[in-house]
Amino acid sequence: MSEMSTEAPTRQEVVKEEKKFMIESYGCQMNFSDSEIVASIMQDKGYAITKDEDDADVIFLNTCSIREKAEQTVRNRLVHLRTNKASKKKLKIGVLGCMAERLKSKLLDEEKLVDMVVGPDAYRDIPNLLDEVEGGQKAVNVLLSREETYADINPVRINQDGVTAFVSIMRGCDNMCSFCVVPFTRGRERSRDPKTIVKECQDLFAQGYKEVTLLGQNVDSYRWNLTSKGEVKNTDEPTVNFAQLLEMVALVDQDLRVRFSTSHPKDMTDEVLHTMAKYENICKYIHLPVQSGNTEILKKMNRGYTREWYLQRIAAIKEIMPTCAISTDIITGFCSETEAQHQDTLSLMQQVEYDFAYMFFYSERPKTLAERKYEDDVPLDVKKKRLQEVIALQSKHGLKSNERAVGKTFKVLIEGYSKRSDQHFYGRNSQNAVVIFEKAKGLQKGDYVQVKVTSCTSATLMGELV
Ligand code: 5AD
Ligand code: SF4
Repeated sequence: MSEMSTEAPTRQEVVKEEKKFMIESYGCQMNFSDSEIVASIMQDKGYAITKDEDDADVIFLNTCSIREKAEQTVRNRLVHLRTNKASKKKLKIGVLGCMAERLKSKLLDEEKLVDMVVGPDAYRDIPNLLDEVEGGQKAVNVLLSREETYADINPVRINQDGVTAFVSIMRGCDNMCSFCVVPFTRGRERSRDPKTIVKECQDLFAQGYKEVTLLGQNVDSYRWNLTSKGEVKNTDEPTVNFAQLLEMVALVDQDLRVRFSTSHPKDMTDEVLHTMAKYENICKYIHLPVQSGNTEILKKMNRGYTREWYLQRIAAIKEIMPTCAISTDIITGFCSETEAQHQDTLSLMQQVEYDFAYMFFYSERPKTLAERKYEDDVPLDVKKKRLQEVIALQSKHGLKSNERAVGKTFKVLIEGYSKRSDQHFYGRNSQNAVVIFEKAKGLQKGDYVQVKVTSCTSATLMGELV
């Protein structure tokens, strides 16, 4: 036998080809943050991450159920992937997140769209589930947990700029807004150990990150070592509320900006506002979803506050932090909403003049309180017409807000290059407004600069370095 024809394996056989996974995120920031936890778990399992669909052995879609349209987007994507899968037998497709939780094995049985279904509290089980799938089975884990916060998992930052990062501080939601599917898909509210939160922020800063956004469905009800009634659980450990956590993170470094989302009007305390005011590096921006400007509708939505209470919270923000930007979420056409009640939403918007808003028409979700109790009786064209009115008013206010910034100078954190031109940097000021300005020698992303705003559109501020 010649040397050439030994039984020695060829190189290709020796090098075990690395398996690859791709993950796509839909919906809220929390989902994007969760995908980074999944990425960490997958890397530990020996998978490398890819952004190329054709290169992936496993594709995960981290999904959203908040509105019907969000689910439809994912379904369309699944159908596309399944067609692709037909030509690529070994490709495995997994649905993660809220749609997985809501539809459970339906996605496997009835629709045969996927191989794996994993709810938001079951990501640690992904390696086992993958083994089952490799063995030719379909795999599901949609168990919700009262404890899981993934506190010890080091998220792998995907699609990040190396400057800003999400840090999840709590999971789930106990609010039971009547329109909302989240309590069903993400389970009971639980807070993450503050030590692990601070450690994650310190590590990020050490890696060069300059901004963290603390994430939770309702950050104001963050509590560590406290019961919901405010009693101390373990007397040997300190208790931490959201204002205190915010301060702990602000103290990591004065060059680390801190943002957070989402606040709830019924729970947002003056203590939080004073903490924000005290630290320059806590960004002066609050997202405070109002949903409706009418007290009766708010009551039906089970929001826990009235129009007056909400306006009083806005007044507190403006008094304690006059430069603070405020954004909101609005739903038009909720069950039984009359024209007069819709006008209340418009008048509240006039009063607050939001800097920014996310606006939706009501989409009935299965199992929610509203679905069980109220009739979805506002016709679609009326919902949409009201939404258009809300959007039109908001774009006026957004433009006005940007026009007020013209002539002013802001500290801006450079996050990267402008999408339109690599001669321009893109960044945000403390108020979360996007600022574009010409790049200059010696500057790079992650730097703080002073920018004087010279002009604006309704979406962007344009400025020059000072
Ligand atoms: N229909 C329309 N919008 C909804 N939202 C939540 N549930 C629904 C629904 N069923 C909106 C709310 C919430 C935001 C994240 O999505 O405004 O604050
Ligand atoms: Fe996020 Fe809610 Fe959508 Fe779930 S349903 S992904 S929690 S927005």
